[in-house]
Order: sequence, then C-alpha cells, then structure tokens
Amino acid sequence: MTSGAKQTAARRALLVGAGRMGGALARGWRANMRAAGLKSLDILDPNASPEILALAEDRRIRLNAAPRPVDLVILAVKPQGFNATAPGLAAWLSDDPLAISVMAGIQSDSIADRLGVRRVIRTMPNTPGAIGQGVTAYTAAKACTEEDRELAETLLAPLGAVVGPMTETELESATAISGCGPAYLFLLAEVLEAAARASGLKPDVAAILARQTVTGAGALLAEGGEPADLRRAVTSPGGVTAAALDVLMAPGGMPDLFRRAVEAAIARNRQLAKPD
Ligand SMILES: NC(=O)c1ccc[n+]([C@@H]2O[C@H](COP(=O)([O-])OP(=O)(O)OC[C@H]3O[C@@H](n4cnc5c(N)ncnc54)[C@H](OP(=O)(O)O)[C@@H]3O)[C@@H](O)[C@H]2O)c1
Repeated sequence: MTSGAKQTAARRALLVGAGRMGGALARGWRANMRAAGLKSLDILDPNASPEILALAEDRRIRLNAAPRPVDLVILAVKPQGFNATAPGLAAWLSDDPLAISVMAGIQSDSIADRLGVRRVIRTMPNTPGAIGQGVTAYTAAKACTEEDRELAETLLAPLGAVVGPMTETELESATAISGCGPAYLFLLAEVLEAAARASGLKPDVAAILARQTVTGAGALLAEGGEPADLRRAVTSPGGVTAAALDVLMAPGGMPDLFRRAVEAAIARNRQLAKPD
C-alpha cells in the first residue's frame, strides 16, 4: 500500500521525460540506485535541465543515448506528447517489459496498445510530488505481478506517499481528489487572502496570514489526528470560529461545493479519456 517494499532484482530502466515529475523521480533514484532496484537508468528528454545533465555524470545513468534493451519504462512526458514518443520506444523494450506511467488521462489499455506491452502500472501523482511531498495513487493491469507492484511503490517513493493498487475507476476519483487537489488548496489560500483584504487588512498582512494559515494547518494535520477533530478543537460552541463555519457548512456551502467540484472533475476526466 505504501513505499518501503522489499528489495526486487535490479532492473535496467528507461525514463521518458525528465521535467517536474520525471526529474523528481530521477533525483530520488540517483540518491540510491540500489534501493530503487535499478542497475542502470537511461533518460530521454531532448531539453533536459542542467540538473538532469549533472545526474548523467553518474556512470550508471545515460542521457539521450542510443537504444539498449530495458526491463522497465517510466513514462513522464505530457499526455499530448505520448503519441509522438510511443513509436520510438519499441527499439528500447525487451520482451515483456513493465511500463509505469505518471501521465494524466491516458488509460492503461491505451498505453498497452501503443507500446505493445502487457504489464502496465498507471499512476496519478500530484504537484507536491516535485518536492517529495505528494501522494501518488496507482492501478495495476491484471498481468502485473506482486513484484511489479512492489517495484512501482519503491520507484514512486521519491514523489511522496504511494496508495494502491486500486481499480482504474477508483483512479478517476483519485485524480479528482489528490491529482486536482493542490489547486483546491491554492484556491483556499487565494480566497482567504481576498477575504482578509476585504475585511480591511493590508495586502502584505493578508497574504502572510492566509498563506501561513494554510501551510501551518497542513503541517499540523501531517502530525496526525482526524481533520474533524482538529477542526472541533479550534471551534468553541457559539464562538467566533463557529459563526464562520455555520456559513461554510450550510447547505450549498463547502461540503456541497466540494462534492459537486469532484463530480465535475470526474466527468471531465472521463470525457477527456474517450478516444477522438
Ligand atoms: N506536474 C504535476 O503536478 C502532475 C500531476 C499529475 C500528473 N502529471 C503528469 O506527469 C507527466 C509529466 O508532467 P510534468 O509536470 O513533469 O511535465 P514537464 O515538466 O513538462 O515534463 C515533461 C518533460 O518531458 C519532455 N519531453 C517532451 N517531449 C519529449 C519526448 N518526445 N521524449 C522525451 N522527453 C520529452 C519535456 O521537454 P519540453 O519541456 O522541452 O517539452 C519535459 O522536460 C504529465 O503526463 C502529467 O500529466 C503531472
């Protein structure tokens, strides 16, 4: 369910795309190739950052080199770039490789068809993964083994927590919750800041009060405890916070809005996943 899987045989891996997500993965693996279960790593990215160029100074890592057979391919290009990238990957793939995708919106079947592979693990990371603070949900095709799932959990650990395996339908819900979720929290910081300004606070004061409240509350939540308990702990009956929460939790308020927002995200995700 989470990272910390037992050690699997060392693999030769190919990472396609080394931007925010792929770069965070490559940095994490480079820190301890053995723990990541990797013998060697090839990276394909025509516009690799200087940081990725520096990783390739390690003799076990090659950047934009000629194809050689790999056991494992990790897809971290933008979804729209996948169609262009897929045909060129055939030259890299050994018999029956494992494919792990962090691409949003491209279904496992489609990845399997385009690459001609059976064992596909499709994941949904989120933006905080770029600093190792994300959460990644994943689904594994029927052909995947327990060892494949353990390897995927180990390889995804540099992005943060790993949750799965789950069904592809559950992954759609996960997309709407954790994949899109950072935007909901950034919006919360924005609207809290706007409300602070509307209440008469200076813009710089409004900004620090709103932003630090969101990040500080997140850190407190990370320490443990149920969100509802933490909320009740700062809400005296009939008090000031209770007055605000009465508005936020009224019919049509935050609980209803979030349910509708998540439904809209799931519906849009299904629409985008349909073939043209
Ligand atoms: N960022 C997130 O929060 C997030 C969350 C969930 C899922 N994802 C998924 O993660 C994937 C990667 O996202 P990202 O934010 O890491 O994107 P990104 O920063 O744009 O990284 C993608 C990298 O792939 C490179 N690239 C483009 N075409 C390529 C090709 N043909 N071969 C090899 N490399 C190529 C890009 O180079 P150029 O910049 O030169 O095009 C870029 O460096 C996407 O599919 C996205 O849906 C991201």
